[in-house]
Amino acid sequence: MCMREFAVLNCGQLVTLAGPRRPRTGPEMRDLAIVPDGAMWIREGRIQAVGRRADIEPLLPAEAEIVDAGGRIVLPGFVDAHTHPVFAGTRAGEFEQRAEGATYAEIAARGGGIRSTVRLTRQASEAELLMAARRYQQWFLRGGTTTIEAKSGYGLSVESELKILRVIRELAAGGPLVYIPTFLGAHEVPDEYLGRTDAYVDLVVHEMLPLVAREHLAEYCDVFCEPSVFPAAKARVILRAAQGLGFGLRIHADQFTADEGALLAAELRAATADHLDATGSAGLEALRAANVQPVLLPASVYNLGSTRYPAARRMIDLGLAVVLATDFNPGSSPTASMPMVLSLASTQMRMTPAESITAATSNAAYSLSRGHEIGSLEPGKLADFAIHDCGDYRELPYFFGREPAWAVYVGGACVYGRPHF
Ligand code: NIG
Ligand code: FE
Repeated sequence: MCMREFAVLNCGQLVTLAGPRRPRTGPEMRDLAIVPDGAMWIREGRIQAVGRRADIEPLLPAEAEIVDAGGRIVLPGFVDAHTHPVFAGTRAGEFEQRAEGATYAEIAARGGGIRSTVRLTRQASEAELLMAARRYQQWFLRGGTTTIEAKSGYGLSVESELKILRVIRELAAGGPLVYIPTFLGAHEVPDEYLGRTDAYVDLVVHEMLPLVAREHLAEYCDVFCEPSVFPAAKARVILRAAQGLGFGLRIHADQFTADEGALLAAELRAATADHLDATGSAGLEALRAANVQPVLLPASVYNLGSTRYPAARRMIDLGLAVVLATDFNPGSSPTASMPMVLSLASTQMRMTPAESITAATSNAAYSLSRGHEIGSLEPGKLADFAIHDCGDYRELPYFFGREPAWAVYVGGACVYGRPHF
């Protein structure tokens, strides 16, 4: 339902995140700029005014519709800055094998893992992939997420990577979830190139990247940088070529092995370095010096049954503008739930609820060059927000294992839940 002009009244806490127009660091991450008994006036899909109910109500034109938040909290929509939402099948069988003791690396070494999803995804039609992805879209929205970064990476051939990116384009055109596309052709070495990584890098650089650029199918390029997959020397070749074509850079860095990925992200001035589960002091210092934003993915650590979470506290203390994301994918992180990620951030990485919310909204938006449009509730920005069924923002990570969103809006349109009593 789209109302041209309306106001949300009776927000127990209007969590605005109003503040500096740049990624937030250190103590800034704890300041959510909360307005108690808040109200927000929305016109033509954008925020017109934000403040105390007593200040906003007199400004409202007579025709404005009213949404009563019933004392609940209102937050910017979550911006999930790292997802892999287009794939065929699931890996529930591997999940069971891990429960029986196999590791992610062992399963990958025997042909499972990313490569097994690639086989299924290559066989699937665009229509089948679209149908699966639309189902997952509902899960993101129900969690209060309004924008996601969406990677390719389960095709690993010219034709199949383009197929996935076209599906992402179609998802973006259909809405209501907002998709920001990333090309991840170097997610793994496909079966037919096993032992010939250099030849696959050539394919990515000389065939895939120019086509993706020509068809404007992605804004960012990502590489799974890991000594056993694409070591830094090979990842550098791909990422430099991408940079030359105008792509922004994001890197799967140091998920299993220390520092190479973070150092490369710093060297190339990537927008983000993602995972960082194994990164040590040298890597963290380099990210700080180069202003690269860390994207932390605790749900993948949790789901792989590991206890090695990234050093979020050290990163915040060092002044890094931390981002949190789900890493939604069929192997390491089959969850689209940002509230679950906030819970993990507090319990496993000792991020405060306020720091986690900043990392999942404003900082995430800046990591995708969208900080001027989304990530906070301030006049002029898009009306992307969620009303959560909580009386206090700290309840978001505290009551875990439920989806707290009561109503979700994208560009002023209600896309999930019940705006009226
Ligand atoms: O971000 N590590 C590489 N990529 C994914 C896993 C993808 C998969 O297992 O299918 C990740 O964790
Ligand atoms: Fe990932």
